[in-house]
Amino acid sequence: MSAPVAIVRRIEFLRSTLDHHNYRYYVLDDPEIPDSEYDRLMAELVRLEAAYPQLIISASPTQRVGASPLPAFNEVKHRMPMLSLANAFDEQEVIDFDRRVRERLGISELAYVAEPKLDGLAVSLVYEDGVLIQGATRGDGTRGEDVTPNVRTIRAIPLRLHGQDIPRLLEVRGEIYMTRDGFRRLNDEQMKRGEKIFANPRNAAAGSLRQLDSRVTASRPLTFFCYGIGAAENDRLPQRHFERLQRLKAWGMPISSEVAEVRGVDGCLKYYRSLAARRNELAYDIDGVVYKVDALDSQAALGSVARAPRWAIAHKFPAEEALTQVLTIGVQVGRTGAITPVARLQAVQVGGVTVTSATLHNQAEVERKDVRVGDTVVVRRAGDVIPEIVRVVPGRRLPGARPFVLPTVCPECHSEVVQADGEAVARCSGGLFCPAQRRQAIRHFASRRAMDIEGLGEKVVEQLVAGGLVRTAADLYQLTKEQLAALERMGDKSSENLLQAIEKSKATTLPRFLYAMGIRGVGEATAQVLAHHFGSLEALQAAQVESLQTVPDIGPVVAQHIFSFFRQAHNQEVIQGLRDAGVSWASGPQTPAQRPRPLSGKTFVLTGTLKSMGREQAKVRLELLGARVASSVSRNTDFVVAGADPGSKLGKARSFGIPILDEEGFLGLLDPSASS
Ligand code: IVH
Repeated sequence: MSAPVAIVRRIEFLRSTLDHHNYRYYVLDDPEIPDSEYDRLMAELVRLEAAYPQLIISASPTQRVGASPLPAFNEVKHRMPMLSLANAFDEQEVIDFDRRVRERLGISELAYVAEPKLDGLAVSLVYEDGVLIQGATRGDGTRGEDVTPNVRTIRAIPLRLHGQDIPRLLEVRGEIYMTRDGFRRLNDEQMKRGEKIFANPRNAAAGSLRQLDSRVTASRPLTFFCYGIGAAENDRLPQRHFERLQRLKAWGMPISSEVAEVRGVDGCLKYYRSLAARRNELAYDIDGVVYKVDALDSQAALGSVARAPRWAIAHKFPAEEALTQVLTIGVQVGRTGAITPVARLQAVQVGGVTVTSATLHNQAEVERKDVRVGDTVVVRRAGDVIPEIVRVVPGRRLPGARPFVLPTVCPECHSEVVQADGEAVARCSGGLFCPAQRRQAIRHFASRRAMDIEGLGEKVVEQLVAGGLVRTAADLYQLTKEQLAALERMGDKSSENLLQAIEKSKATTLPRFLYAMGIRGVGEATAQVLAHHFGSLEALQAAQVESLQTVPDIGPVVAQHIFSFFRQAHNQEVIQGLRDAGVSWASGPQTPAQRPRPLSGKTFVLTGTLKSMGREQAKVRLELLGARVASSVSRNTDFVVAGADPGSKLGKARSFGIPILDEEGFLGLLDPSASS
C-alpha cells in the first residue's frame, strides 16, 4: 500500500517543523512555541506514522523513545583517538602553558577559545550525510562503547543536521551532562520510587547513558553540548576552532553560550575569573574552564604528547571537596515520616561555605559508603545542593568503630519505624501524632512557595507544636497575639507581624493550597496540574483513583496517595478548619488559556513592603494576570510597584522614566472593580 502524496508531504512537514523547534529550543535557547504546541505536532506525527509505518525513518523526531534492551554494549573503535586534557590548578600553570605554546610557535600573542569545562561524560557522535548513525562513549580513548540507541533519546542531540557544506562523514565530540535542575528532579523521583540516589549530576549522567535499556535513558533528563570535531571527510571546514563551533551550531549542534574568543593569557585568566564568579548561576556543573589554541594550523603544529594535546589545557576550579571527621550520626524525621540519617561533622570550609552536617540519604546508602562515627570522610558541596559524604578515607578508622544502624523506633515519638517493600526509605509510622512530622508539615504549609507565611520559622514552629498550641495547619489561624507574644524571642512587634502574615496568607491560590497540604508525591508542579485539571478543590476531592490517573504526569502511586489523603477524616477536618478560618482562592477557570491575561507582555518590578500582601503573593497575583515579574529594573521594565521603604530600584525607575505604582494603584490594577 503506498501512502498518498499529501500524507508523505505532511509527515515531512511535521518532521522538519519539529526539528526546527528543537533547534530553537536546544541550540538557540529561544523557543518560538509553547511545549503544548510542540506536543500537539508530535502527537500528529505519531498518529500518521502509526497509520503509515512504511514511512517511518530512524531520523524522525518520534524515534527517540528508546529501543528494547541490549544484552551488552558493542565495542567501537574511534576513528581518531579521543584525547584527554592536561590540567592547570593555578594561574601560574596557565601562564607556563601559554609561554610554552608561544615559544613553540614563535608567536608573541595567541588567540584562544575559552570554554566551560563541563562535568559530564565525553561522547563521539558520527553523522553520515548529516544523519546520526553512531554514538559512542570515550572508553579508553581508543575504544569506547556503542551507545547509539541511548544517545538517540537525548533531544539536544540532533538526529539529522541541516544546512550547507555538511561533510559526508562528520564526527562531533562533546559532553553529555545533566543540568542541576534535571539532577534534582531525577533524584526526587528516584527517592519516591525507592531507587538509587545519584551522588552528583555527573554520576547521574553517566549512569543514565550507560543503560542497556535505552528506554531508561529516554526517561532521564540528559542533555548535550558539543565542543569540537573528531574525524571529518570531504571537509571544507573553517580553519579556526571558534568558527568551527559556529558552523556546528548552524548545522544544529548545541554549543554552550559561555564559549568565547579571548586574546592571550590575560584574556584566558580574565575569562576564568569571571566564569568562576558566576559558576553557581549556571544551570549545570562545571569543574573549570578549557583554553584551546584557536588556529587549526597551530594546533596541528603543536600536536600532542602522551594522550593530551599540546594546544589545550583545562584550568580547574579549586575542589569543592574537603576532609573532615564524623562526630555523630543522627536521624531526622521528615514531613512524611521519612527517617534520614544525617552525619554531624567537625565544621569545615568547602568551597567557601562552612559545612557542619551532611545527609546520608538512607540506610542502604550508609551501608554502601560504610560511614561510621569517628571516620575521616571526604565531603563535597556541589552548587547549592546539600553537602554529601563522598567516601570514607580508608585506614583512618578508629578502633572499635561500629556500623551505623537505623533506630527501630522514631526518636521523636517512639512509634515503630517501618520500611515498605522495595522502598529505600524507612518511615516513622506515627503520622501526625509524631511531633517531628507535625512540625515539618506546618513548616511546609507556611513555606514561601506554599502559603507564604513570613516569620513562621523553625524556632517558632517548634515552640508552637511543643506547647500544643498548633496541632494542625488550621490551628495557625486561631492563634492570638498573646499566645505568640508569650513565645521565646517573640516581642510584641514580631507577634503582630506574624499575625498579619497569617492573615494575609488566607488569600491564596488553589495550586498553592494543594501544594501546602503536603500530599505525598504532590510537588508544586503536580499541584498546578491538578488545579488546572479539576478546576476546584471539590472536584479533586471527589475524584476516584482512575480519574486521577488520567491526569498528565500522575501515575498510579501518586494517584493513590491523593485519593487516600482526601479519604482521611483528619485531613477533611483540617481542610474544613482552614476554609472556616477564611482561607480561600479565586474559583473558576484555572487554565492559563482560559483566564483573561490583561497584563500579558508587561514586565513588573516590585520594591519595598506592601501592607496587604507579601512579595511572593504579589508576584503570583501579577503572573496570574499574565505579567512577568523581574528582579531588577531595566529599560524594558513597564511598571515598578513601590511599597513602604522602597530600595534603590525606585531611583533607577525614576531615572528611566518608568511609571511607578503605589500600593493603592497596584491593588486597583489587580482588581479594577475594587477601586472606586
Ligand atoms: S576538549 C582534545 N572541551 O574533559 C581535547 N573537553 O579532561 C579533549 N570536557 O574527555 C576534549 N568540557 O569529557 C574539551 N569544553 C571542553 C570540555 C571537555 C569537558 C571533558 C571531556 C574530556 C575531558 C578531558
